[in-house]
Amino acid sequence: MADDPPKPYCARYKCIALTFDDGPWPYTPELLDTLKKHKAKATFFLLGRKVVSRAELTQRIVQEGHEVGNHTWSHPDLTKLSDDEIMEEMTSTSDAIERVIGEKPAMMRPPNGATDARVTRLMAELALPQILWTGSTLDWQARDVAVITKRTLKLAKRNGVILLHDIVPETVKAMPAVLKTLEKQGYHFVTVTTLLQGRELEGGEIYPARSK
Ligand code: NI
Repeated sequence: MADDPPKPYCARYKCIALTFDDGPWPYTPELLDTLKKHKAKATFFLLGRKVVSRAELTQRIVQEGHEVGNHTWSHPDLTKLSDDEIMEEMTSTSDAIERVIGEKPAMMRPPNGATDARVTRLMAELALPQILWTGSTLDWQARDVAVITKRTLKLAKRNGVILLHDIVPETVKAMPAVLKTLEKQGYHFVTVTTLLQGRELEGGEIYPARSK
């Protein structure tokens, strides 16, 4: 009999996936420095139009062990676009990411979490699972370091997926205290793929599944 395979990382450790949307942006390097200091990995949902203007920063994100996903080219509400427009938003961004880092992203996040049966069908065609979140900090509304810190800590839970934005400077400023506190609580900061513990998502599949 073969030995049992080692348990997946997040079965052994208390994991959380911090996700940062709408970059890469000039605040992203400071965030990367903070993540590195804590040996934290995160997931960045990138806008294609920003990837082309910040190719080196996009490369740095990946080189430092973080994961990147497709967050469209220009951040539209996908449910309001035609099929062709949706495909253009998605493929232009995946192509831009591939040109910069050498591979296409394996997941996407619809802007504002807006999806429906049609968007889901198109994402299935593109073999891109739709990654949402368990907790949204609404950091872009808060614009306050203390508020964002408090909300992130409150939303933190084992295997949680937390929505943040590296285009919000107060979010970047909040991360040192957030990481320090969650670290003390035993959290390990991982990419969405690590959180999935080897489970392969279907194209179009929504993760974490929405509660009914
Ligand atoms: Ni966004």
